[in-house]
Amino acid sequence: MTDSRIPGGTPAGEGRYGEDLFEPERPGESGRVDAGALVYDPFTTRRLRMLGAGPGLRCLEVGAGTGTVARWLLEEAGADEVVALDRETGALASLGVPGLRVLTADLADEGLRPGTFDLIHARFVLMHLPDRRRIVSRLAGWLSPGGTLVLGDAVELPDVLDTGSAYRRTMDAMWQALWTAIGTDISAVPAYPRFLREEGLRNVAAEVCCPPLLPGGPQARFWYETWSRMRPALEATGRVDSDVVDAALAHLDSPRLAELGPGMAMAWGQRP
Ligand SMILES: C[S@@+](CC[C@H](N)C(=O)[O-])C[C@H]1O[C@@H](n2cnc3c(N)ncnc32)[C@H](O)[C@@H]1O
Repeated sequence: MTDSRIPGGTPAGEGRYGEDLFEPERPGESGRVDAGALVYDPFTTRRLRMLGAGPGLRCLEVGAGTGTVARWLLEEAGADEVVALDRETGALASLGVPGLRVLTADLADEGLRPGTFDLIHARFVLMHLPDRRRIVSRLAGWLSPGGTLVLGDAVELPDVLDTGSAYRRTMDAMWQALWTAIGTDISAVPAYPRFLREEGLRNVAAEVCCPPLLPGGPQARFWYETWSRMRPALEATGRVDSDVVDAALAHLDSPRLAELGPGMAMAWGQRP
């Protein structure tokens, strides 16, 4: 089932992550992804550890990006094997960690059969894929008995009393531009626990982490890089002009920065 909701009344874009936005060959793209990983890896790895990440496990890291979680699973948690799946595996190929198997594949490929796993983790991937509900189903189907599926994606707790700051307008323009370009949608993220339950998983639970947005910190750097490379698309929404984007970028570096930035919801469940 394709998510057919239409935020703002416009149809979801049919472009693709890595082709129409966030092209991996663009200078600085892996640094942008790494800045996000630096912010969220402590939350992700803590939760994976609590869910039993450790020796003896065969893991699938979905949309592995630069491979920080795949590497942690092998080097810190001691997993036996990690399959790191991504459409773009240039950054993963050079990791050279024993036990890592790099799989260049498209999650949207219905014929994809990577095997079965004790732990499957996908972070900041499903939100960018219009077929996310169907993909949750397929990921759940790749779990071994007793295996755990962990989904992490962005959530926002916007200050609804702020209707006009450069920060707010630019963040809103970003979500709209992502939707219009590639169909990114975070509105279904709070439904992930229900999706996991619908797939017959047990011990389903979820949590939200909102790391602080500090001037010049890794999270601010991530948004700075994201907004900078999306600038034409942000301005094309009509919500912001060049001066507003400049002001929002400067705000990310300013001691006056005082925002509850976007966070990450993690939902997990276990195959009986
Ligand atoms: C925002 S990055 C997140 C990377 C990593 N999971 C992390 O949290 O650091 C999204 C990743 O998903 C990958 N991706 C996007 N669409 C994909 C698809 N259809 N199939 C496989 N990977 C995809 C991208 O290439 C990119 O590495």
